[in-house]
Amino acid sequence: MKVLVTGGAGFIGSNLSKQLLQEGHDVVILDNLLSGYRCNLDAIPKAKFIEGDIRDSNSVNKAIDGCEVVFHLAASVGNKRSIDFPIDDVEINVLGTLTILEAMRKHKVRKIIVSSSAGIFGELKTLPIKEDHPVEPDSPYGCTKLCEEKLSLAYAKLYEIEAVCLRYFNVYGLNQRFDAYGNVIPIFVFKLLKGESITVFGDGEQTRDFVNVKDVVQANIVSGLNRGVSGAFNLGSGTRITINRLIEMIKSFINEPVVVKYRAERPGDVRHSLADVNALKKQLNFVPSITMEDGLREYINWVKTTL
Ligand SMILES: NC(=O)c1ccc[n+]([C@@H]2O[C@H](COP(=O)([O-])OP(=O)(O)OC[C@H]3O[C@@H](n4cnc5c(N)ncnc54)[C@H](O)[C@@H]3O)[C@@H](O)[C@H]2O)c1
Repeated sequence: MKVLVTGGAGFIGSNLSKQLLQEGHDVVILDNLLSGYRCNLDAIPKAKFIEGDIRDSNSVNKAIDGCEVVFHLAASVGNKRSIDFPIDDVEINVLGTLTILEAMRKHKVRKIIVSSSAGIFGELKTLPIKEDHPVEPDSPYGCTKLCEEKLSLAYAKLYEIEAVCLRYFNVYGLNQRFDAYGNVIPIFVFKLLKGESITVFGDGEQTRDFVNVKDVVQANIVSGLNRGVSGAFNLGSGTRITINRLIEMIKSFINEPVVVKYRAERPGDVRHSLADVNALKKQLNFVPSITMEDGLREYINWVKTTL
């Protein structure tokens, strides 16, 4: 099938585009390179790249023409960026998503897969986090990701469009570059491989659910190929590890001396995070399968090639 990947020059979008091409699909990428990379596109020359903004209906109409499914990843990404640039966050994530949905309606596109975020939940109240956990986002980013979900699901009720929203937990893996906006695995791995110290906020016993990008890619493809299911689903690994354990694992793979500095906990950081992934299994028959050991080893080897 012919598909549109918005944000295909980015971390997750480039992995998704590569896999879609490998599975024989025609891939169009729409990206304005705000946080995406040309080198990610160079590695997937068979994808048709349109440099443009999801807020621009001309670019969107051009990119979406003839597509059956839209994988919508383009976004202003992350809590910190949204606090630094809140107007951009709302314009890109809300108006950009609406521009995509309007184009889908006009071009009779069958399905949208929305890249949502666990950031919609805000302070976590129960573990593991099920889909019906209260949504009380505590950043503009969490609000706009929730809005992306609600707009897409409303269009699925109003028109002949299906919508699956995947709420990613902490995604890591190939093509994830050093990130000033706070993704812990790239920060730790890049710094440690360069012989720099790393900083842990709090005692390091906080836990996170890290999901490998390959699982995120497969969940997207399964959702896109499926017919009949619309809804919002949590997408993590369904497991969690402490930050201290994560550092131990990285240490064991890099064989370099590691200096860890502990600082006061940051206000707003959640203590524990863990996705309940049963709904995704039940509705879409998808189960994440990449272990932290395998995913982290592969990621560290890739980072070494970029230094
Ligand atoms: N990485 C994570 O852990 C994580 C967690 C939860 C949700 N997500 C979501 O997954 C999606 C992909 O995130 P990522 O980690 O790959 O980030 P990324 O920054 O690597 O990718 C985002 C892409 O969108 C593009 N983009 C931004 N604004 C655009 C615009 N106005 N028009 C066209 N393109 C635009 C960027 O250039 C970039 O290529 C995002 O929607 C993000 O909110 C990511």
